[in-house]
Parts: sequence; structure tokens; C-alpha cells
Amino acid sequence: MKALLLAGGTGSRLRPFTHTGAKQLLPIANRPVLFYALDALAAAGVTETGIVVGAHEPEIRHAAGDGSAFGLRLTYLRQEHPLGLAHAVLVARDFLGDDDFLLYLGDNYLPDGVHGFLHRARTTPAAARLLLTRVADPTAFGVAQLDPANDERVIGLEEKPERPRSDLALVGVYAFTPAVHDAVRAITPSARGELELTHAVQWMIEQGLPVRAETTTAPWRDTGNVDDMLEANRQVLDTLVGTVEGKVDACSTVRGRVSIAEGAVVRGSRITGPVIIGAGAVVTGSHIGPYTAVAEGCRVEDSAIAHSVLLPGARVAGAARIEDSLIGRGAVVAPAPALSRAHRLVIGDHSKVHLTS
Ligand code: G1P
Repeated sequence: MKALLLAGGTGSRLRPFTHTGAKQLLPIANRPVLFYALDALAAAGVTETGIVVGAHEPEIRHAAGDGSAFGLRLTYLRQEHPLGLAHAVLVARDFLGDDDFLLYLGDNYLPDGVHGFLHRARTTPAAARLLLTRVADPTAFGVAQLDPANDERVIGLEEKPERPRSDLALVGVYAFTPAVHDAVRAITPSARGELELTHAVQWMIEQGLPVRAETTTAPWRDTGNVDDMLEANRQVLDTLVGTVEGKVDACSTVRGRVSIAEGAVVRGSRITGPVIIGAGAVVTGSHIGPYTAVAEGCRVEDSAIAHSVLLPGARVAGAARIEDSLIGRGAVVAPAPALSRAHRLVIGDHSKVHLTS
């Protein structure tokens, strides 16, 4: 079976990061979220994978290459405008040919992978097969309604409904037969101006095609916003195997599961795992952790940081306590000059700063 991995989209809920980079490349435990998807596809036995990309194609190509590092063969498919998930299937028409395929949203994180789902899609044929999970707020997702007499049969779907008919959200993994191609051609754009995959599958139901679902309790995250990114980071760090390859001086303490890459330096600091520190990062006089990922080339001085993600090259100095934060590439958080009582901010479009004083 082929796979179609969607890595386009604007990532509006992750601005400002998505002004300068693809949301699928934001790191979870110092690895792009997209890499976990590529690993999951390879582990499920997929090789032939189409990856739909938009304006951030160059960075995604640079990161994922031809896929061979993951055991995949990647074909890049350009979606000129982010016109929706069903539009991405239209773009991939020639690549998909008349094959069945697995569709995977590149910002979704499923630590248990898609092996079982793919196996059931192969052995129990249906025009579309969906993966569902119960969520507290279904209004943020596609929502499925199941046949009360058969909980594998989907009888209705809605995209981000105001009044959801169930708490079963669509996880970003689907299996399709070529019947989906008629569906994506038949629908019209939604209120947000996109061709919704949810509407395409609803169209299939209305045509009387068999649409099946399975409900999972396995962990899952749509990393489309900052809180979910931080939560995914916590989940991955919980499975971290600690290895200290960088330099840690005698004045520092390292507790719990901590990974410090070769070339990183920790001086006079306390590291409380789970924590990952990337190559070339320098941490001095600071307390890092728990649940914090410091990417390569960061500098942290005289600061305390917990439950946070620092992107490559970020610099934090003199911060008494930073929590639940995502700090961008090359961003600088530094103390104001002595005697200054004002906050001085030079922050990008759509950034958020929460002041405590
Ligand atoms: C998309 C789908 C939605 C699905 C979600 C899963 O939403 O439209 O049906 O539940 O992915 O991550 P989006 O993240 O594009 O708003």
C-alpha cells in the first residue's frame, strides 16, 4: 500500500513559527514532528510515500531528503495553495494511481504507530477506514457518528461542529480505496475556504459506500498548536533513554533521564530529567527541567526553564523562571539593563508574551 503524507498547510495556530518554517518541522524532543510520522510509516511496512508540500517545500526536502534515511521512497508533490486536505488528494491523483493508500497528517503524533490500523485496512476492505479517539472538546476536530447497532460503521461526519453529535474525533490517519478520488472531486469548499477531507468521506457515506472506523485509546496528539506541541514533547521525553555524551562539570548535577548530546556543555547547573540537550548547546548557572528540550546551539545562562522547548540557536539569560514556553530559532530572551523598569520587546508577528509583572 502507498502512503500520502500531508506536510503543506499554513499552520496559522503556530504563528509566528510558521512564518519562517513548516509546522511539521517543529521539534519534539529535538526531532521534527514529521520524522515521527516517517518512522511510523516505515515501521508499518510502507515504502512508496508521496509527501504533499507547500511553500515550505525547500526546508522539508532538506530535512527529509529522498526518505532513504527512514527506509522510505519519498515523492514530493507540490500543493501551490493550502486549499485543504481533500485538495491535497487531488494534487496526488497521478502519484496514487489506482492504488489503495494510507493518508497521514504530518503534524499528527502517534507514538504507537499505524501498523495495526494498516493491517486491518488491508484485511477488512472498506472504501474508507477512519481512526477515531474520544476527546474532551470535539468542536476542534472532525467528528464521527457511529451506527448504534454496529460501532465499526460510520453513518455521519462533521468538520469542527458547533454542536457535536459524539465525542469521537478523527485522528489524522485514514485508509482509502481509489473511490476517494470521485469524492474529492464532488465536494465544494467549506466556510473556511478549504476542500475538507471530512466532507469527502461524508459524500462517500451518502453514496452508500462502506465507511468503517476503529476507536483507539492509544496516545495521540495533533501538534497544530503550542499547548499540544508542549504536551507531545512531554510524552516523548517520558520515553527518553538518558545518555550523557556532552561535557558536564563537577559543579553540576544531573538527575533522572537526561540526554546531553556530544559537543554540548553544562557548567554549574542542575538538570532535572526528563531533559534533552542538543549538540553545541551551552548551559551555565541554570536549572533545566523537567520536560524540557534544548535544541542544538542554544545558550542558557543564569536561568530556570521547565516544561519548555527551545529551538536551535535560542538564547536565554537571566530568566528567573520560564515555564510552558516555546522559544524560536535564534530568539533572545535577556535581562534589561540595570535600573530599567520597563519590558523592552522586539517580537515577531503573531508572537505571544505573558508578563507576570
Ligand atoms: C484536521 C481535520 C480534522 C481532524 C484533524 C486531526 O484538522 O480537518 O477533521 O480531526 O485534522 O488532526 P486541522 O488540524 O486541519 O484543523
